Amino acid sequence: MKVKFTNLFQLISDKPKIIKKINYLIKNSKFVGGKEVEDFEKNFSNFVKAKYCVSVANGTDALEIAIASLNLKENKEVILPVNTWISTAEAIVSNGLKPIFCDVNLSDYSICTEDLKKKINKKTGAIIAVHLYGNPSNLKEIKKIAKKKNIKIVEDCAQAHGSKIGKDHVGIFGDIGTFSFFPGKNLGGFGDGGAILTNSKEIYEYALRARNHGAKIKYDHKFSGRNSRLDTINAAVLNIKLKKYSNVIKTRNKIANVYFKHLKNVGDIKLFKLNKKNTHSFHQFVIRTKYRNKLAQSLIKNNIQTMIHYPYMLNELKFFGKHKIVNAKNLGKKILSLPISEEHSLKEINYVVKKVKTFFKKEIKY
Ligand SMILES: Cc1ncc(COP(=O)(O)O)c(C=O)c1O
Repeated sequence: MKVKFTNLFQLISDKPKIIKKINYLIKNSKFVGGKEVEDFEKNFSNFVKAKYCVSVANGTDALEIAIASLNLKENKEVILPVNTWISTAEAIVSNGLKPIFCDVNLSDYSICTEDLKKKINKKTGAIIAVHLYGNPSNLKEIKKIAKKKNIKIVEDCAQAHGSKIGKDHVGIFGDIGTFSFFPGKNLGGFGDGGAILTNSKEIYEYALRARNHGAKIKYDHKFSGRNSRLDTINAAVLNIKLKKYSNVIKTRNKIANVYFKHLKNVGDIKLFKLNKKNTHSFHQFVIRTKYRNKLAQSLIKNNIQTMIHYPYMLNELKFFGKHKIVNAKNLGKKILSLPISEEHSLKEINYVVKKVKTFFKKEIKY
């Protein structure tokens, strides 16, 4: 059996509907803006239950515009978890601000609030909480810490479509939530895409202009912005996929439960600690073991693809400067993402489980 990490082509469950829609858009030369984009913004803000949604060209732009909208003074610092995709840090640097990396909990890989308290100082202007792997970060506690010091919060929800804290979707707890619709994401488009969600009219008005050369309508430039629009075809695809998105979460959770049940006491594997009150969207299923490299090689020999998110922590990239990190030191050498997607069958997942167990029993003799 061959188990791919993910299968983008198969991931299109609504292929005929999508092809019909794209044909219509081509026939009518609808490529930029228009009803599809407006509908998607409405549909996605309803999904997240945020007042406003501004679609943009990708999740990195969403973060960049979100941070710019906070209007932080030069020299301000922005705290972010050390284990995240580089975009989270890039968006801080490109706004002329300083990224300060915060440690993460080894139980759930989200921001470590003890370290967060230590890293806050007078220069701290904002915190970016990342709902990594689809796991909702501890926003309630982060908010308490930030509120006392008047620090803004951006939620990087690039991996967390459908993730909830209690009954509420991530992205609405802080000042702004940003999303990515990169094809490999749980809610992925046909190319790059992103969105900014907020309940603040002021931030909404800024983002609306920032993504379109500082203009709401043609030639109405109020400041120097950029071109960061969600393509019409992409918006149309996302509208169709969003309708059935709750099934994606259900299937991913089903698969995660199989992993939780069967990998619980296998070798030295450390599993994720789940908060039962929250909804995890399982963008990734990440395990931790000191035998990571050997395990990945063994799985590849058995035709099972895995990935690493991420092979190094951002403080290891020297151009970001020096940062004290304890928990996450060498974390990139121990983590492994197992196959998980709505397109995987339980047969495939059980095969992965079997091969992981065999590895520890026969190769490691654990
Ligand atoms: C946590 C995180 N933040 C930001 C991004 C950036 O999104 P995009 O690739 O759409 O620019 C990603 C995408 O990989 C991500 O995983």
